[in-house]
Amino acid sequence: MKILFIGMGYVGTTMAVVLANAGHEVTGLDVDNDKISSLQKGELYFHEPGLQTMLMTQLQNKNLTFTSDPKEAVETNDVLFITVGTPSQQDGNADLTYVKKAAQMIGSFINKTKTVIVKSTVPIGSTEKIGEWIHEASQGRFAVNMVMNPEFLREGSAVQDALNPDRIVIGSTNTAGLDDMKTIYKSWDCPIVQTTTRTAEMIKYSSNAFLATKISFMNEIARLCDQLQVNVRDVSKGVGLDHRIGSAFLHAGLGYGGSCFPKDVKELLWTADAYQNPLQILKEVETVNQTQPDYFLGKVREKYPSLAGKKVTLLGLAFKPDTDDTRESVSFPIMKQLTDEKAQVIVHDPIVQLSPSWLAQGVIQHSDPYEAVKGADVIIICTNWPQYEELDWKKVTGLVRHRFIFDGRNMLDAQEMKRLNFYYTGIGYS
Ligand code: UGA
Repeated sequence: MKILFIGMGYVGTTMAVVLANAGHEVTGLDVDNDKISSLQKGELYFHEPGLQTMLMTQLQNKNLTFTSDPKEAVETNDVLFITVGTPSQQDGNADLTYVKKAAQMIGSFINKTKTVIVKSTVPIGSTEKIGEWIHEASQGRFAVNMVMNPEFLREGSAVQDALNPDRIVIGSTNTAGLDDMKTIYKSWDCPIVQTTTRTAEMIKYSSNAFLATKISFMNEIARLCDQLQVNVRDVSKGVGLDHRIGSAFLHAGLGYGGSCFPKDVKELLWTADAYQNPLQILKEVETVNQTQPDYFLGKVREKYPSLAGKKVTLLGLAFKPDTDDTRESVSFPIMKQLTDEKAQVIVHDPIVQLSPSWLAQGVIQHSDPYEAVKGADVIIICTNWPQYEELDWKKVTGLVRHRFIFDGRNMLDAQEMKRLNFYYTGIGYS
C-alpha cells in the first residue's frame, strides 16, 4: 500500500516516518519547498527526540520519499492522509483554509478511487465537508473512502506516542476505508475505537479539552493551596494515585501552552456557542489558564513592587521541555510584561533561539545558564526543562545579586532552595 501524507508539520512528518518504519511505502508532500528539501536531505527542521535517526534510516531504506509535486503524489498513492494545520481564527473557530486546499488538490488530481484519512484536528462535521470538497473538485469522477483518524501525539514524545498509542480511533462507515486502516495499523497492538467520522472528531476535541481541564483544575487548587499553606505537589500525588483520576496532567504551574490545547479549547467553545449549548466548565478552564501568568507575576510583585532596572533571568522559552516550539508559550507574555515594566531581561533556553525583534528590545540571551543568572535580582522559571533541575544551585548562589527564585513549574526542591538561602516560591508550592 502506497501512502501519502499531505502537510509536513510535526504530526505529518512524525506519522510519515513511523509508518515507513512499520514497512509501508510512504511519501511526504508539502507546498513549502524549504521543508521538503531539508527532509529530502534527512534534516529534520524541528526538534523531536528520536525522529531524526528514524528519518535517516527510512530514507536509506527507500521506504520514505518527499516531494513538492502534488499531481504525481496524488496519482501514485492509494491512501492519502491530510495532516495540514487548522489554526484558530480571531473568534476561536478553526481555520479550514489549508484543509480545503488539500481537498481541492486531491479532487483535481484524483485518478481512481482512494482512501482519504483526515488526521488534522477538524471541527465536528468537517470530514464530511472535506469529502464534499473533494467530490466538487473532482466533479464526482471517482469515489473517495473518507476516514477520520485523530492524532494523540505529544510534542517531545511524539515518536513514542505514535509507536505505543493508548488507542487508535477510526471514524468511518466506509468498508474499503476501514480495510485500508486495518492494513495501515496491522503492526499496532492497542485498543481500536471504531466509530463515525463525527464521533472521532469529538473524541479528539474532548480528549484535549479534558486534559486542559485537569491542568486548570489543579492550577486553581494550587492558588488556594497558596493561601492555606498546602503543598500542591503532594496534593497532585495524593489525588493522582487514585486510579480513577490518574496522575497525568495534574502538574500545577503556569498553565498549558502549545499549538493544540489553547486552539482546541477555543474551537470547542466556539462550536458549543454556535449551537447555543455553551460549555461552562471549559470556559472556566480557559479563564484559569489565561489568568495564571498574572497570578504568578503578582507573586513577583509582592517582593518587587517595581521591576524597573531589575535584572530578571527567565529560564525556558519553549512551551514545554523537549521541543523547540514556542507557540502559545507562556514565556513570551511574561517576557513582554517584564520588558514593559523596564526590567532588564536575560533569557536562557537549551534549544530555542530568541527572534531578533526581542533582542532589538534589549532582551539578552545566553546559551550558558550560569552566564544567564550572573548578577540576577530575580530568577523566573517558565519551562520545566530537566536541565534546570540539574543546575548546580549552590554555584548559582555565588553568581546572582539577590537570591530570589519564582518557579512557574514547581520543579525545584523547595527545601533545598531554602537551605541555600533562596527566597523560593512556586504556585501552590513553596
Ligand atoms: C497535546 C496532547 O497531549 C496530545 O495528546 C495531542 O495529540 C496534542 O496536544 C495535539 O492535539 O496535537 P502537546 O500540546 O504536544 O500535546 O503537549 P502536552 O504534553 O499535552 O502539554 C501541553 C501543555 O500543558 C504544555 O504547556 C505543558 O507544560 C502543560 N502541562 C502539561 C501542564 O501545565 N501540566 C501538566 O500536568 C501537563
